[in-house]
Amino acid sequence: MPNIVVVGTQWGDEGKGKVVDVLAPHVNVVVRYQGGNNAGHTVVVGREKYVLHSIPSGILHPGCRCVIGCGVVVDPGSLIEEMESLVQRGVVLDGNLFISKNAHLIMPYHPALDRASEAKLGPRRIGTTGKGVGPAYVDRAARVGIRMADLLDERLFREKLEYNVAQKNRLLREIYDAQTFNVDEILHPYLRYAGWLAPYVTDTALLLHKWIDSGYSVLFEGAQGTMLDIDHGTYPFITSSSTTAGGAATGTGVPPKKIHGALGVAKAYTTRVGGGPLPTEMTGRVAEEIRARGKEYGATTGRPRRCGWADAVVLRYAVRVNGLDTVALTKLDVLDQSETVKICVAYRYQGDLLTDFPGEETVLSGVEPVYEELSGWMAPTSRAKNEADLPAKARQYLERLQELIGAPFCMISTGPQRDETILCEDSPLLRWFPSVRSSLL
Ligand code: GDP
Ligand code: IMO
Ligand code: MG
Repeated sequence: MPNIVVVGTQWGDEGKGKVVDVLAPHVNVVVRYQGGNNAGHTVVVGREKYVLHSIPSGILHPGCRCVIGCGVVVDPGSLIEEMESLVQRGVVLDGNLFISKNAHLIMPYHPALDRASEAKLGPRRIGTTGKGVGPAYVDRAARVGIRMADLLDERLFREKLEYNVAQKNRLLREIYDAQTFNVDEILHPYLRYAGWLAPYVTDTALLLHKWIDSGYSVLFEGAQGTMLDIDHGTYPFITSSSTTAGGAATGTGVPPKKIHGALGVAKAYTTRVGGGPLPTEMTGRVAEEIRARGKEYGATTGRPRRCGWADAVVLRYAVRVNGLDTVALTKLDVLDQSETVKICVAYRYQGDLLTDFPGEETVLSGVEPVYEELSGWMAPTSRAKNEADLPAKARQYLERLQELIGAPFCMISTGPQRDETILCEDSPLLRWFPSVRSSLL
């Protein structure tokens, strides 16, 4: 049974939650491999809307097991809130949710350091979600992090907490002139969290190994997107984890040779929250219209998302660094009322034409997009059941985009609902999961 990575191809919020929810009934397991509660993955089921932050988007399907892998950083208070809210809405977690004992914890000093560091950066601030994700990964790399297994070992937890609080307090006081913490105010709530989470904490790498050996199929749910990857993204305006397909192996303990394919999720245009370059950024009325039609406000922070035209340079790059076999294109309906639609096919920089994504900060902040302009379709797409039902000009847009990015589309999403999804014929997706056809066609 195939094990497939689902990864964002842009700057996050591409609709990964919806795509994973649509595929979840066709796999046995969904696993998150990186990021933390900076993610906000929306799943809409009829009139119900769920925004998942740390829990995989397969959780709404009772037969689907959900794993929070070792590469994820977990804020236990926020995770418990998310779990309680799902349970209140009738979702069964016991027997369905598994948390890696090696996952690192987000501690109360991490969001404090996140905010303090952002304030210090001033105009060069990243525009983080403020959840403490970056500082938690700093501690992991510095080897002073506290892991889920440590939380369940009271003596070790207290020892690590004491060391960290002393160290972080100096940093907060002397470098950032910010409020400090005391051990007891963290220890007691965290020990309560330990009691709550203990039944879910396990060796998820071993569990995944056994499941895969017994023939289970696993979906790896990426958070954020390729352009926010710590190595391959628009550094330093990125998140602090390996968001790209490679992260799926290290972030779960599943060996690369047991991962059989990669599916990218791309919006029909581009959005970004926070600072940093966005070469195809729209301004004025066009941006406002797309933001309003696409409801482009952050699922985690509520911030308005910056909007831009589709960028084939970015998407081609995402195909390359993730080895994408196929792409699910989302939010096509948001362009339904645009008289013209643009695709960026290259960048111009100091007289040169760049067709490969440049990594240098200075180059990226100075590039001019080169656009191809197509006429819009000016007709609704959300009732289309297959590609042939789409307006001819929408099909032309999709064909041109597909040609430019060099990977076939497997799915066209025309609305947030599960059934607002068109399956593309002859895509790798139907070879991986043939049963998707009967559930969507
Ligand atoms: P994620 O972080 O990649 O999971 O994406 P988000 O959930 O942050 O943002 C995507 C938003 O678009 C959510 O509100 C989804 O419900 C919504 N959405 C997903 N697919 C479509 C689509 O095809 N059309 C429209 N109009 N909305 C969509
Ligand atoms: P999903 O999974 C969009 C952005 C932040 C900021 C940068 C660093 O819903 O697609 P961080 O808090 O991670 O240190 O912030 O990354 N960012 C996201 N943007 N979608 C996300 O997640 C994001 N998670 C982080 O806005 O620019
Ligand atoms: Mg999101």
